[in-house]
Amino acid sequence: MSQSQTIHAPEVIHDVAALRARVRGWRAEGLRVALVPTMGALHEGHASLVAEGARRADRVVTSIFVNPTQFAAGEDFSKYPRTLPTDLAVLARVGGHAAFAPSVEEMYPPHFCTGVTVAGPAKADLEDRFRPTHFAGVALIVAKLLNQAAADCAIFGEKDYQQLKVVTQMARDLDIGTEIVGAPTVRESDGLAMSSRNVYLSPEDRARAPAIYKALTQAATRIAAGEALAHVMADARENLVSAGFAVDYIEARHAETLARVARRIDGPIRLLAAAKIGATRLIDNIPVSL
Ligand code: PAJ
Repeated sequence: MSQSQTIHAPEVIHDVAALRARVRGWRAEGLRVALVPTMGALHEGHASLVAEGARRADRVVTSIFVNPTQFAAGEDFSKYPRTLPTDLAVLARVGGHAAFAPSVEEMYPPHFCTGVTVAGPAKADLEDRFRPTHFAGVALIVAKLLNQAAADCAIFGEKDYQQLKVVTQMARDLDIGTEIVGAPTVRESDGLAMSSRNVYLSPEDRARAPAIYKALTQAATRIAAGEALAHVMADARENLVSAGFAVDYIEARHAETLARVARRIDGPIRLLAAAKIGATRLIDNIPVSL
């Protein structure tokens, strides 16, 4: 960033009425608005989504809300990192105009009793096999955020590939007038996908964590070269196990529908993996080039 570039602190908005008023004001000025939903603990992956929002719109609102309904009992809701002051500094650096940081009570007031259930990509037997209530919580909070912000577009990371597909399906099915945009995964220099949960990794586990990306890229190269899918994916699983991971899944799926694929010609293919190293569960995915 050049020295002369001014860094503006983002406006922090805590309630839905103020968010609606702000977006309405921008709209009245003829400005386009992008929404970037996050749970905070912002890193360069989130920053890239805000930058993409700024390319597509005149104003970017980043929501920061650790959504209780997408965490199951025993998951990391209470220990999930909450770092609002540093998050605001990241937004200031990348040109985020506003941060929407509501309380749990603002998003789920007393007597809240509505759910959003998605089938199709939400039942692909990937993340949903291990986190059966997760996508209902994601679909609910994202539907709320999309309605609240009424933005022209909303940016989601391919890092959470199944989530991107679930949100796209939900927005289409519910006629939400915000365009859902996917953006590529940002990685550390050793290939590990950036994640707010990487802070949980011990130094030893952090050193082993890039094995997920390595297993995926090796498998993608072999599939692209014409090797049999089932054989390559079995090797990929084996590689992860040897690297010390407890593998939830490492699978080849149709990149659009997430349906199972038997052969490379069955469609554009995405490789998706979830595995635990120590107590930390990591997910990642990459495309197989055509
Ligand atoms: P969170 O994990 O904070 O991620 C917010 C957004 O950042 C998601 O769209 C996610 O895919 C994207 N993201 C995370 N790591 C990334 C990386 N390394 N590169 C590019 N993008 C990355 O995903 C959620 O929050 C929540 O489920 C949410 C959609 C906000 C609903 O609560």
